[in-house]
Amino acid sequence: MIEKIIEIVKEASLILKEGYYKNKDVNFKGKKDLVTKYDVAVENFLKDKLSKEFKDFNVIAEESDNSNLEFKNSIIVDPIDGTTNFVNQVPHTCISLGVYKNKKPFIGVVYNPILDELYTAQVGLGAYLNGKRIEVSKEDDLQKALLSTGFPYTSGTCENDLNDVVKKIKDILPLCQDIRRLGSAALDLCYVARGIYEGYYEMNLKAWDVSAGLIILQEAGGIVSNIKGEEYTLFEDKYIVASNSYIHEALIKNLNL
Ligand code: IPD
Ligand code: CA
Ligand code: CA
Repeated sequence: MIEKIIEIVKEASLILKEGYYKNKDVNFKGKKDLVTKYDVAVENFLKDKLSKEFKDFNVIAEESDNSNLEFKNSIIVDPIDGTTNFVNQVPHTCISLGVYKNKKPFIGVVYNPILDELYTAQVGLGAYLNGKRIEVSKEDDLQKALLSTGFPYTSGTCENDLNDVVKKIKDILPLCQDIRRLGSAALDLCYVARGIYEGYYEMNLKAWDVSAGLIILQEAGGIVSNIKGEEYTLFEDKYIVASNSYIHEALIKNLNL
């Protein structure tokens, strides 16, 4: 299954790549939440191919009406993660696709066609970047850890969320090496998987932002939890906290100050 998915994602990525270098008509789904015709085109292409190829799975995808779909045997798709980067030609953008069998992680594929970086993982078989095995970093000192986070679209409309973002940065920044905000949750998780970041946290993400990245990270030896340090549940938890495992306890503690 993974080989076919990679083939389909690579085909879809031609649409992303074509759009990346063009001026785009941008529509707003919310005050800050962008969508372009390329998000929709990549999604339609993926849905069409995946539903023909994998008849036992439904496809839950960001730009579609998913209200009648049950999360069970599901392929969860973000056609373009990092749409703001895509629109502004920041090369940190990707297609993200996570396969779940009976709600359990099975396959994760994240592809950044601008940098030609393909992250893949199948449960129990490890995580790979362009075919080479990847592993999380071994750094266990939070003070030396490079972290990443993201700012929710609700920061423009919800004061509580904005205050929480600022408070957590204020609490964590003095205690770590530094914090990055590159604008693609799927790639942020892959960067922890690769050992570039030691940890990552963010609020208000949707299942398609993290469905693939969390499988890739776990297969690279990392861990993912909610903000209490408990098992992270797709579609339910407000916060995701991800790390190389060694700094997880310290990260959780300091996100709860
Ligand atoms: C967004 C990106 C971003 C994160 C946002 C997401 P989108 O996804 O993953 O890094 O901070 O919360 O919604 O809208 O570009 O698919
Ligand atoms: Ca996304
Ligand atoms: Ca998206």
